[in-house]
Amino acid sequence: MQQMILDVDTGIDDALALMVAVRHPDVNLRAVTCVAGNASLKQVVKNTLKVLDMAGAGDIPVAAGASRPLLAEANHAAHVHGTDGLADLGLPESARTVLPLHAVELLRREILASPTPVTLVPLAPMTNIALLVRMYPEVLSNVERIVFMGGSASVGNATAVAEFNTWHDPEAAEIVLSAGVPITMYGLDVFYAVSIPPEDIVRLSAASEPGAQLVGRLLQHIVTVKGGEIRVAGEGHGDIGDAGAVCAAIDPDGLRTSNLPVRVSLGDPLTRGQTVVDHRTAGHEQHGAGDPLFRRIDVALGVDGARYSKLFLDTITG
Ligand code: BDR
Ligand code: CA
Repeated sequence: MQQMILDVDTGIDDALALMVAVRHPDVNLRAVTCVAGNASLKQVVKNTLKVLDMAGAGDIPVAAGASRPLLAEANHAAHVHGTDGLADLGLPESARTVLPLHAVELLRREILASPTPVTLVPLAPMTNIALLVRMYPEVLSNVERIVFMGGSASVGNATAVAEFNTWHDPEAAEIVLSAGVPITMYGLDVFYAVSIPPEDIVRLSAASEPGAQLVGRLLQHIVTVKGGEIRVAGEGHGDIGDAGAVCAAIDPDGLRTSNLPVRVSLGDPLTRGQTVVDHRTAGHEQHGAGDPLFRRIDVALGVDGARYSKLFLDTITG
């Protein structure tokens, strides 16, 4: 059984990711931690609890963490995720609340309590994870790998060169890259390439089981807001976004990665939040090769979209 913890800013595609992690038979989702990103922390908490209820997982421990990035101001994304961060579907409020402890404390508790090393899957600005790295670095020895959704080895989405999660809290991303544990960057180079065809979206939306129906309705919203995004694989398809990173954590063989030096741009407003990936091989014109501020991580450069969309659908519908 794979021990997993998700850090989320729920968020439409975070909701899809929660559904997969809850429902996959080989995953023990130990905890979910919340952070400001797509929506305010308060809204992210509400959304996360609602989604877990609808997934039939109302007993998974949830804690609230950082309400803003380490240094910058928060910049939410209502234009993508709706005013409530969850496509304004009017989902019922959850009857439960978060645990009375900070996300960093829940991360520490669950990592230490895990019988085997944990796969940590941040799907949001990495403020909580950076705080964990700084406050409790000793717990990282029980982390198998960090598979984070964020960054890009090519172009961005929040800006021309920066992906939203690394753009929202670049300092946090830079701290996490230095954590000293194996890291997979599931960035924009693969993010849009795992998608669900229209016929499956219609089928899910009409399901009587609430979790599957929610997935269908969220995918419908994604199709609407990402209509012009040419990186989404397939006409009329809805990409599963963050949920692809959970698929990568479960089934890493579906991902093509390259171990490359990466550094996050922190200064220049034009590039702030960009994950600068050094693709160079040996060459006589290289400058700065071996710069210790660039950390080698596994950068996802290709994905078997059909394999992960099947994994996603099979898991959601059981
Ligand atoms: C990331 O930002 C959010 O819109 C999504 O939830 C995803 O984590 C994509 O840039
Ligand atoms: Ca997210």
